[in-house]
Amino acid sequence: MRRLNLELAERSYPILIGGGLVSRADIILPYLRNPRVALVSNTTVAPLYMDALAEALEKLGVGVTPIILPDGEAHKNWESLNLIYDVLLATRCDRGTTIVALGGGVIGDLAGFAAATYQRGVPFIQVPTTLLSQVDSSVGGKTGINHPRGKNMVGAFWQPKLVLADTDTLKTLPDRELSAGMAEVIKYGLIRDLPFLGWLEANMDGLLARDGDLLGYAIERSCVNKAEVVAADELETAREGGRALLNLGHTFGHAIETGMGYGEWLHGEAVAAGTMMAVELSRRLGWLSATDVARVRALMQRAGLPVKGADLGAERYLELMSHDKKVVAGNLRLILLKGLGNAVTFADAPREEIVATIEACCRE
Ligand code: NAD
Ligand code: GLY
Repeated sequence: MRRLNLELAERSYPILIGGGLVSRADIILPYLRNPRVALVSNTTVAPLYMDALAEALEKLGVGVTPIILPDGEAHKNWESLNLIYDVLLATRCDRGTTIVALGGGVIGDLAGFAAATYQRGVPFIQVPTTLLSQVDSSVGGKTGINHPRGKNMVGAFWQPKLVLADTDTLKTLPDRELSAGMAEVIKYGLIRDLPFLGWLEANMDGLLARDGDLLGYAIERSCVNKAEVVAADELETAREGGRALLNLGHTFGHAIETGMGYGEWLHGEAVAAGTMMAVELSRRLGWLSATDVARVRALMQRAGLPVKGADLGAERYLELMSHDKKVVAGNLRLILLKGLGNAVTFADAPREEIVATIEACCRE
């Protein structure tokens, strides 16, 4: 088992990565305030993993309230959140109840927001079961739901007490979802860990073949990167750089997800196409070479990810991007690359270059 810590003073927590962790109630038990959990999952993940975890918890004397939501990004909304609150109230869950998220990023974001808000906040544990959630969404405390006008527009920062990432659960993950998670793994190489980018190029075939050791290493290295960034700028308030850098490709990508309708493109797919736009814009600004762009495109393609954006039209992209959470006083701040492995926040990209980038990246 690999173990690392997210250092946030009294809110620090461990991230455990390894096989067979999904039913390790003994690891969870010390993190519970009271022996009671609400176990939130969905109709796809619950039949695979919920019984094993619920039974293991019950054997240790923990009361388990299951909450099974419909599956999909289209359900990351108020209706699902209300379903969670309804069950919590109907079963008299109190402030000592821990909410445990068992699933991918959608379940983690929903359950985390429920934990942040139910009775003004209850303890929360993440048991992520997709590559994307194991390398990104389960770590760092961003929780929330989508609004029809914009991705993740309603939410809260609420850190988990523990992240338990079972790499064995990735064996049942569809290929398309594994690839989607790879977009966020590649992100860490691009924004701050060039040696990791090289490692990913050398090991992409083994990762896609689901070699457990390689996946364990990629998840650990991703979480080390994420934990360092979050520890330095938990609430994303740094004026330059900071946590916002984790959003490489996301401003363009969120526009694709919202513009196409939630669930049409997977989050990781939209991030991959959005990253190609950020990379292309960086080239137009003279910060990357054509060779750099080709290198990133080749890796995305080997990972099974789209490199061409959705054809929404540049004006629609700009309208959707104007809702981005990184907008300050109407000014769009983008995450761009000044060389591979070196991300920056940049507020002065000329509008015509952004338009040209979108047009080029949706046409290619
Ligand atoms: P997801 O949660 O929709 O899961 C993908 C699919 O895989 C779903 O159908 C799910 O039911 C299924 N699944 C999950 N685990 C499985 C398993 N082990 N075996 C078989 N099927 C399994 O998508 P995701 O990619 O995990 O997460 C995307 C979401 O995460 C987006 O909403 C995105 O906005 C959010 N996100 C949040 C953060 C954050 O910091 N909070 C960071 C990145 C992404
Ligand atoms: N996924 C971006 C962040 O956690 O900040």
